[in-house]
Amino acid sequence: EKGGYKHFMLKEIYEQPRAIRDTLMGKHDDGEILLSDIHLSDGDLAAVERIQLVACGTSWHAAMIGKYYIEKYAAIPVEVDIASEYRYRPKIINPTTLVVPVSQSGETADTLAALKDAKQLGAKVICICNVVDSSIARESHGVLYTNAGPEIGVASTKAFTTQLAALYLLALFLGQKCGHLKAKDIKRKFKAIEALPEQMEQVLSDEPRYTEFARNFHNHQDFLFLGRSYNFPIALEGALKLKEISYIHAEGYAAGEMKHGPIALIDKEMPVVVVATASEVYEKTISNIEEVMARNGLVIAITNPDNQLSGAVENFVVPEVDEELSPLVNAIPMQFLAYHIADYKGCDVDQPRNLAKSVTVE
Ligand code: F6R
Repeated sequence: EKGGYKHFMLKEIYEQPRAIRDTLMGKHDDGEILLSDIHLSDGDLAAVERIQLVACGTSWHAAMIGKYYIEKYAAIPVEVDIASEYRYRPKIINPTTLVVPVSQSGETADTLAALKDAKQLGAKVICICNVVDSSIARESHGVLYTNAGPEIGVASTKAFTTQLAALYLLALFLGQKCGHLKAKDIKRKFKAIEALPEQMEQVLSDEPRYTEFARNFHNHQDFLFLGRSYNFPIALEGALKLKEISYIHAEGYAAGEMKHGPIALIDKEMPVVVVATASEVYEKTISNIEEVMARNGLVIAITNPDNQLSGAVENFVVPEVDEELSPLVNAIPMQFLAYHIADYKGCDVDQPRNLAKSVTVE
């Protein structure tokens, strides 16, 4: 059932190009995004003034990127919150609020409870979910399924990248309904995301380099992960993956925040994984990396072919794609780093200690 792979997690990492294709299937026709299970009228959609995303863990990281997508393409203000925080605060909700829970399992207790509260207060709810007919899918007015297929490994991989694809589709859909995006924009952007599976394959073919990396780096006690903009949540996700399956302490930070504290941690023992792929804030990221290098930190860079960093101890090269879509590509090096370090250490990759696949406790 692992299809010849050593772990479900590895199999699921490799399934991502297929999973993304399945998420996109049937969602575009001639410059129009088609989301048939949303079940909101054009009138309902035009009335949306605020969007609230709620999720936990890796799904929360996807939601953070979803905020950037929706604000960019639909110009609707978006808030993102961790479901267990959102639940216990006064909620500002009315019928012009659209609430979007994001969940792989569709059973996460805090996310489900946040959804029910929001619905009761009159919000419209569309969920992004992987498991068909799960509680969250059933409680929502509409649903956008990720179609990743069953995810068995406790650490989320293909569910995460398909959530990003779904959030991108939702943002394009809302952008079109609000009149911000024209058919020709939709065509171009859909073409860009359709090209991703092939670009993800290129990253997957680089796996042996991560095995070698794990041999050299599995003994470090702490890692820092940095990224900006669309790739700040990718830094958070890289740190979470490493923590949960290899039991190595790791922190993710917005690269621009480093100077406000975490820079004090940097010394010659500290591996710092930095997402430095093409972006509007590329130069800013480079100056953050220089600060790390000046303090003898060990820079491990995720870069594009033409922008490798000579001062880095490792450059993991990924193809250059649109900045907005780069998190889907850059997630893979994060998954491989964590997977290979955990596997090298002999950890139980698919069933990490203290964790369950579906968190049905509050
Ligand atoms: C991390 C991970 C968890 C889940 C979280 C939410 O790899 O899998 O952080 O993302 O428990 O689960 P869902 O998405 O099922 O609501």
